[in-house]
Amino acid sequence: MSDPSGSSVRPRVLSGVQPTGALHLGNWLGAIRNWVALQDSHETFFCVVDLHAITVPHDPRRLAEDTLSTAALYLACGIDPQRATVFVQSHVSAHSELCWLLNCVTPLNWLERMIQFKEKALKQGDNVSAGLLDYPVLMAADILLYDADLVPVGEDQKQHLELARDIAQQRINARFAPDPEQPILKVPEPLILREGARVMSLTDGTSKMSKSDPNEGSRITLLDPPEVITRKIKRAKTDPVMGLEFSNPERPEADNLLGLYALMAGLSREQAATACASMGWGAFKPLLAEATVEALRPLQRRYAELRSDPGSLEAVLEEGRERAVTVAEATLQRVRSALGFLAAG
Ligand code: TYM
Repeated sequence: MSDPSGSSVRPRVLSGVQPTGALHLGNWLGAIRNWVALQDSHETFFCVVDLHAITVPHDPRRLAEDTLSTAALYLACGIDPQRATVFVQSHVSAHSELCWLLNCVTPLNWLERMIQFKEKALKQGDNVSAGLLDYPVLMAADILLYDADLVPVGEDQKQHLELARDIAQQRINARFAPDPEQPILKVPEPLILREGARVMSLTDGTSKMSKSDPNEGSRITLLDPPEVITRKIKRAKTDPVMGLEFSNPERPEADNLLGLYALMAGLSREQAATACASMGWGAFKPLLAEATVEALRPLQRRYAELRSDPGSLEAVLEEGRERAVTVAEATLQRVRSALGFLAAG
């Protein structure tokens, strides 16, 4: 990829979203919005993590479409394929291969204590796959393959990032690098911004907005039409108190919706708090609905354009795959060789 500075020393960024159904405001505000801001200062890699999407039961008739839709949403949110590498995880086989190598050095009990595994496993009952347990190792492979310096994610991914760091540092570099000054894998840092890092459900301000919540009214998806957005916000859970405020532990819904309003209307938290301090819910909700509809309008327009031209989107993903393979294969070779594998002839 061309680099205006003429050197290739820009720090690297990697992140991804699972193509499981429609992306929601949490995915945008907690992750993708922050990716957009990094494109000029960093060398960025954004993948659609379709291998992660099959760690829970999935519908094979939807996977390819959801993958394309997620990629189109990246671009519609402002990811620029001229500056960023956008690709599909399963198109780069190094992800699965590094995952296997890392599996063999990762202690099982590190995986068993992952909060997200425990939460998701509870929902799956008797049907928990080995892949669900292994999910964070695949995620570590995604990140480590690209020598990522920074990984912009929402708050819920913090523990997975720590695991990726521990695998790189303790299980690969400490054990297999002959010279500690020349580590095999780069140890990444998480980038979790305070605002938007934890967008909560519209129907329960104490649980996070999630694609897997069976109640669609709990989330606003990036492709919801204006009337659906307005209806969901109208029905969102409130409390009997007048006036919106942040950080009152008794009022999680007020904190969440006021935070959303600030982000949607492009206001600072202080500005939003002042504007809504004495506003009743009846006045606040239409304001939030309008700000959300307006914030999503340009994104939805761009998405429709991108989907009307499937050839261009596929070309972006093919070009992304080529760039990603080059970087990923080089890292994989380094790990294979450090682990002592016989080189192919
Ligand atoms: P996924 O698809 O569950 O979430 C994608 C991103 O959205 C963020 N997010 C949220 N942020 C704020 N509030 C919410 N309610 C909310 N819900 C989700 C997540 O933190 C995430 O940043 N395991 C990853 C996918 C992944 C990945 C990677 C990420 C696979 N490989 C490598 C970074 C680097 C995940 O949670 O996907």
